[in-house]
Amino acid sequence: MKSTSKPLSKNPHLIQWVKKMAALCQPESIHWIDGSQKEYDALCAQMVKGGTFIKLNQKKWPGSYLARSDAGDVARVEDRTFICSHSKEAAGPTNNWVNPYEMKKTLRGLFNGCMRGRTMYVLPFSMGPLDSPMAQIGVQLTDSPYAVVNMRIMARIGKPVFELIDKDNKRVVPCLHSVGAPLKKGQKDVPWPCNKEKYIVHFPETREIWSYGSGYGGNALLGKKCFALRIASAMARDEGWMAEHMLILGVEDPQGRKTYVAAAFPSACGKTNFAMMIPPKSFAQKGWKVWTVGDDIAWIKPDANGRLRAINPEAGFFGVAPGTGNNTNPNAMASLAKNTIFTNVALTDDGGVWWEGMTDTPPAHAIDWQGNDWTPALAKEKGVKAAHPNSRFTAPAKQCPTIDPDWESPEGVPIHAIVFGGRRATTMPLVYQAFNWSSGVYVGATMGSEMTAAAAGTIGKVRRDPMAMLPFCGYNMGDYFRHWINMQRNLSETPRIFHVNWFRKDKDGKFMWPGFSENMRVLKWIVDRVRAGGRAKETPIGWMPRYQDMEWEGLDFPKEKFEELQTFDRAAWRAEVLGHEELFLDLHAHLPKELMFERELLICRM
Ligand code: OXD
Ligand code: MN
Repeated sequence: MKSTSKPLSKNPHLIQWVKKMAALCQPESIHWIDGSQKEYDALCAQMVKGGTFIKLNQKKWPGSYLARSDAGDVARVEDRTFICSHSKEAAGPTNNWVNPYEMKKTLRGLFNGCMRGRTMYVLPFSMGPLDSPMAQIGVQLTDSPYAVVNMRIMARIGKPVFELIDKDNKRVVPCLHSVGAPLKKGQKDVPWPCNKEKYIVHFPETREIWSYGSGYGGNALLGKKCFALRIASAMARDEGWMAEHMLILGVEDPQGRKTYVAAAFPSACGKTNFAMMIPPKSFAQKGWKVWTVGDDIAWIKPDANGRLRAINPEAGFFGVAPGTGNNTNPNAMASLAKNTIFTNVALTDDGGVWWEGMTDTPPAHAIDWQGNDWTPALAKEKGVKAAHPNSRFTAPAKQCPTIDPDWESPEGVPIHAIVFGGRRATTMPLVYQAFNWSSGVYVGATMGSEMTAAAAGTIGKVRRDPMAMLPFCGYNMGDYFRHWINMQRNLSETPRIFHVNWFRKDKDGKFMWPGFSENMRVLKWIVDRVRAGGRAKETPIGWMPRYQDMEWEGLDFPKEKFEELQTFDRAAWRAEVLGHEELFLDLHAHLPKELMFERELLICRM
């Protein structure tokens, strides 16, 4: 090894592990990450020099960079994601499983010498505010400076975390990551090193993560999906809390009261937009306001009084760029206006960035996400996208204008309502409320959504995505449902559970609901239900608002249209329930009785 920076921890276990992994991966040097701005700037400058980063026009996009990935490394790879618990049954039928001993053998082979010619960064991170009792610590060893700088935005990293590791002897989740592209002596590096062969591997019992071959997003920023969802969900089951794929927002009403809502939508279904929503004028004038706590992950735990409280374990937004614009999400646009890393969006001629949906009028010319010339004519004639559909911005959460004053509160915010939702062209009404906790768990467990570009797969096909956790649950999905049912037993106050669908289409294939700001009308009904016993009518699937139960001021939405939007279509629900049955057949060995009974009750009511 050529060099190693001074270890920033005295923890003997950590030092020993770093040594062992360095012996396996054989990096050229080791760099212990202090997390400072100076270090961040130096890593960015190094990546600009190496061609990984393009420094954007600093007048227009201060502190911001653009990266273009390899065309084969653009999304999470669910078919290469593994949950290697001791038994296949513990991982369950919805996860890819390989015997952990065999997988370790494979991984040791792959990692052997995989960092040759590169620097291994020792990156300590905290998921959750440093002073939160709900926070958890990990250390990622990675040969990707891109992962390091992104993690600096997405988590709390560096010296203060090493101090916690040394002081409290806190349990650390070891995370090993390599892009899998060793360099031979004198070999020139490419801008986006990666390997065709990819392995995103989790060992829930020993709480370890090994990720190989990808430098992109959830495959490489190991604090996010790998730790904060897959490993954390298994920790949460053992310890009596919940790690969920949920945004958290606070609704402030005209009386100044705040109602916090956690909402689970599958990837790329508008969690970021919902978390940063701006109420319509007629609401804002009366004093309604929406505050943002998080846009992707919630860790939820009962407090000493038996109420659920949640923290956002992340410190930044890793948001989908296409479709984000000043007319759809001005708060996201303000969040990403500076100190942001863009990946796979287009580069404009004035050194800025652009993506589909950012502005109504596209630039006359740009360089697309693959580095080719792009014009609106090319888009029209050949359907070429300027930005990849899963292109992203990595932006600090504290730059969000609506960030909640309590977003870093160590004990979290109280959760009053839980919302499930998917992308459904048919069947699902705009909103309904489950009858109680167990029927709410059924609603979440049987959630379906049309697939998006966030993962490789057939876009548009409806798949069951329980609680939006299908790609993220670190253990048997049936046991996960059992955990949800059990959680309620220790609560003194149970959050109400709702289902929403912003994406229902009419006979002509047009979206029936305007969405975005107008979703505030749905939120207000939810707040009314939670706070003041707001009115609703009983239907076979749950409680639904009648036209007169919703606030319509400022929106011309006729009663007939609302009723069409809210239709409970018996024939469609018949097919829907059969879809539930398919999921239940897969999970039958571990399915809680409560959910089978809920299904029977639903069928009887229908
Ligand atoms: C994400 C995802 O990046 O869910 O948040 O894919
Ligand atoms: Mn997500």
